[in-house]
Amino acid sequence: MSDQKFKVTVDNITIEVPAGTTILNAARMIGGDVTPPAMCYYSKLKDSGGKCRTCLVEVSKGSEKDPRPMPKLMASCRTTVMDGMEVKNITSEKVLDARKGVVEFLLLNHPLDCPVCDQAGECDLQNLSYEHGSESTRYEFKRRTFEKEDIGPYISLHMTRCIMCFRCVYTADQLTERREHGILERGDHAQISTMLNKSLDHDFIGNVIDVCPVGALTDKTFRFKNRVWFTKPMDAHRDCGNPKCNGKVRLWMRGEEVFRVTARKDQWGEVEEFICNECRFEKKETKDWVIEGPSVINRSSVIAQGHYVGTKASPVLIDKVVGQQPKYLMNIHDVSDVNRPDVDLSKIEGPAHSDDFKSLNKG
Ligand code: SF4
Ligand code: FES
Repeated sequence: MSDQKFKVTVDNITIEVPAGTTILNAARMIGGDVTPPAMCYYSKLKDSGGKCRTCLVEVSKGSEKDPRPMPKLMASCRTTVMDGMEVKNITSEKVLDARKGVVEFLLLNHPLDCPVCDQAGECDLQNLSYEHGSESTRYEFKRRTFEKEDIGPYISLHMTRCIMCFRCVYTADQLTERREHGILERGDHAQISTMLNKSLDHDFIGNVIDVCPVGALTDKTFRFKNRVWFTKPMDAHRDCGNPKCNGKVRLWMRGEEVFRVTARKDQWGEVEEFICNECRFEKKETKDWVIEGPSVINRSSVIAQGHYVGTKASPVLIDKVVGQQPKYLMNIHDVSDVNRPDVDLSKIEGPAHSDDFKSLNKG
């Protein structure tokens, strides 16, 4: 990257960034709500991005030299800024509408099994659909199903939840010497699979769990043992013997018990540094770790729930909780947006549906 700087304006906020920066990364430098969501781009993975279209933005001015707007919405993770470029994200009706459509597409075949999914509470798709999706679906057809596949002792694959972001494939490609899984077939037949059902047993392969934005790849050693919002995340480290791993992790604890070990994630939900399988799957005792203290948790995350004491009306903050006010699914509210106390669930006939819920609300 050269030393040349370009001026770019995102949602009326101007910033100078090095030439070659993508619109998404320029928006991340500004931070906050002007940053488009990203379900497939991952800054630590080369060539990632360009698959999911959640990061679409409107380029209302191409550059100072050529001020014509770009005719179509652009994937901000794959479009580099030009000097004088003007971009609209949350200030564009077109973008908000398109994003709604993208969420609807991502959810076409995605099962509504959040209540039993291990990713609940830390699922990017759950947050994305709560913020940008519709209340109900227009899809009337049977969702796609798959033969269950065992991909090894540590990782569980739920193909129905996969959104084909390719992150796990890039992780295996770029972090391990031999990739045994990939995307087979094309179009709506595409699926993540291991060729000849080989298990994924490389010492860094556990990182596919952390990069997966949904519950398609989960940790077999943690599955169904606890809900993530009942555990308390603590930053910890150990002297790891693996030269590629620095042993800096996040422990998900309840009391003295370590339920899960993951890499630490930054404010964009990306891992700070990848960790080895030994740290992740085999060190589940407090004595294995030097505990540094509570992890910083985003205020909007349901995981922050365990960080409060006191009454609902006057909670007392006990740990480091940062960020915006609650707005995502299962955020802490005085009155939950999801379970409306004015709706008597026992009066709904058969399985509850969003339309029943709306009509009851009116009455
Ligand atoms: S399994 Fe997860 S990480 Fe891999 S492509 Fe599917 S959604 Fe992405
Ligand atoms: S994050 Fe840009 S296309 Fe997926």
